[in-house]
Formats: sequence, structure tokens, C-alpha cells
Amino acid sequence: MTTTSSLISTLPGRSYTDPEVFADEQTRIFENLWFCAVRAADLAAPGAFRTVQVGRESVIVVRGRDDRLRAFLNVCRHRGARLCLEDSGEVRRTIRCTYHAWSYDLDGRLAAAPNLARMPDIDRVEYGLVPVHLREWLGYAWVCLAERPPSFEETVTYAATERLGDPAAIEHYHVEGLALGRRIVYDVAANWKLLVENFMECYHCATIHPELTAVLPEFVGGYAAQSYVGHGAAFAERAEGFTVDGRAGFGKLPGVAPEQDRRYYAITVKPQVFVNLVPDHVIMHRMFPLAVDRTVVECDWLYHPDVVASGADLSASVELFHRVNEQDFAACEQTQPGMSSRAYRDGGVLVPSEHHISAFHQWVNQRLRG
Ligand code: FES
Ligand code: FE
Repeated sequence: MTTTSSLISTLPGRSYTDPEVFADEQTRIFENLWFCAVRAADLAAPGAFRTVQVGRESVIVVRGRDDRLRAFLNVCRHRGARLCLEDSGEVRRTIRCTYHAWSYDLDGRLAAAPNLARMPDIDRVEYGLVPVHLREWLGYAWVCLAERPPSFEETVTYAATERLGDPAAIEHYHVEGLALGRRIVYDVAANWKLLVENFMECYHCATIHPELTAVLPEFVGGYAAQSYVGHGAAFAERAEGFTVDGRAGFGKLPGVAPEQDRRYYAITVKPQVFVNLVPDHVIMHRMFPLAVDRTVVECDWLYHPDVVASGADLSASVELFHRVNEQDFAACEQTQPGMSSRAYRDGGVLVPSEHHISAFHQWVNQRLRG
């Protein structure tokens, strides 16, 4: 990393465009770290499943008859056919391959196969589905493809809470008990790192986020919420709530501390999760990097279950961050083509308020070297 005056260089353009770099990231980052895959409540009934792309692998997350969530590679042990062809669904008793009809229990064991009676000594665990590590936190199933996953506490929970000052601060929101108010899926034509970098800085806030800066006037100064370690960003005096026009939102979530009231906290859990905390709701972004220049983002707006059950109008609340998302993703898409330009061969520069991005680049480089 070189410096010119007080400006720090970014990653070079090819980092965002080269399929080889992306393949390396899939192996060393997404297939090695904990990856926030599925909202647990989406899989309410036994047999409910979702398939997600983690690095180069398709992973099935399924609710068992014992109510436990499990994750498996989406590959039949017989001749390798993809098992679940849909993004989501519900199987009745077993996961059945549509090629030669091997079927697997929801705990992964081989349950039946045509002519299996003639192979009495076949080990049903050995020829069962290949398991993937799974942990639940904040109401989401996090999976890890590594044989020996890194510590969840160090790489996820601590990483998520260190910037809040008090590691217990996130617990006050009881995210795991919230209900899904709205989900919007964005298909973004940009490299995943552009999305992370964008989320980490607020240098762009004054230019592209008029609605957000009206509610969070400190953001006009260009310093990201992640600079406000421990105390978040304060709502504007005239803003009654975190809504598109500053109108009142909903009641503060029980448990949110007085010092967390009327404040916004943004957390990045590398490599693919953004958490946004405001007093009356939580916004969770999960990124799915599908190609070097394509990232799908699932964004969940989570509210107190009573708010969702009441049928309250969530639109002013959802609209604020939906606009922020559209503005951010448009900026990322506007940037992606420039990554292949000779003008960006050696990268660009960061101003001092973007120093988090430099730390992120160092983190990426370390992972790719390691
Ligand atoms: Fe699945 Fe043959 S490949 S049963
Ligand atoms: Fe933004």
C-alpha cells in the first residue's frame, strides 16, 4: 500500500474485475469464514429448505423433524446430481434426488435408494449428505464450509459488536425475536467489495442520501457511523423517527437502552453482512457474491412481532433505507465499469474519513495471502 501525501491508495482495478481474483476470494474468504445464509424463521416447518450459494458451493439449509436447522452440500452422493433445484421449498419426509431417486433423511443420512436391499452393508452416514457447519445468531443461520471453522465468537459476534463499545449493546435489540416486516432483494451489477467499501464510508452521504442525512445530520460531515464508536449517530432534532420523511416510526424496542434511543448504529460483519440498528427496527443486509461483477443482496426489515401482527403501515419506515440501498447500489454500479479502465489500473485513493476502507483492503489482502 503506497501513500501520496495524506491519501491512501485503494486496491487496483483488477481486484474488482478479474475472475481469478474472485475465484481466490470464493475459496479463501467465502468458503473459509462464517457466512450468514438464511433467516431461521423462513424455515419454520420441518422439511422447509433454502438453497444458497456460498463461494462455489450450493448449500441446502433445512429444518429437521427435531426442529434443528442443518446445512448440507447440495450434491447427491450417488453420481453428484444437484439435489434441491429450487431456491426454497418444503420436502415432505426426505430430500430425494430426481436422477436415480436416492433419498436422504432431513438429518442427512441416506434413507433409501432403489435396490438398496441388495447393498445391505452400505453405511447410511458415510453415504449421507456432506454436512456443513451451522450456527444460529441474531435469528439467522450462519454456515461455514471450512473443515475447521474459525471461532464464531471472534470472527462474528465480537467483530459485530466491538464498534458498539459495549459488546452486549446489540443484545438489547433482541434481533432473534423480531419479525420480518419486509424483504427486498437487489441484484447489483458490481463487485461485492464495492458494496462493502460503500457501506463503510459516509463521504458519499451528503451527495447521494438526502433522505438519510435529513434524519442523521451528522452524516453530512462525511464521517461514517462506524467512526462513532460506541455512540452511533444522533437523529435530527426535528426527526420523530427513522423514516423517509422524519415522521414518527414505532415504539422503541423493549430492551433498547436510553442511550441507544434516537440513534443509528451501522455494523459490518465481514465478509457479507451489514447490520443497521435504530430504536424501532433492525435492517439486516446479506450479500451473495455470485460473480466478479454481480452481487445479490437480500435486505430484511425486522420489527417487533406486535408491529408486524398489527398490520401497521411500514412503508415510510421501509422506504428510507430502501432509497439508501437504491442510491448506494446505483453508485456501486456506476463505479464498476471504471474498475476495468486503465485510469484505475493502479487503483484510486482514500481520504482520511475513509480509513475503514483501507483496513478492509488490508484484511482482504491478508485473507488472500493466508
Ligand atoms: Fe442422485 Fe443418482 S445422482 S440418485
Ligand atoms: Fe450510502
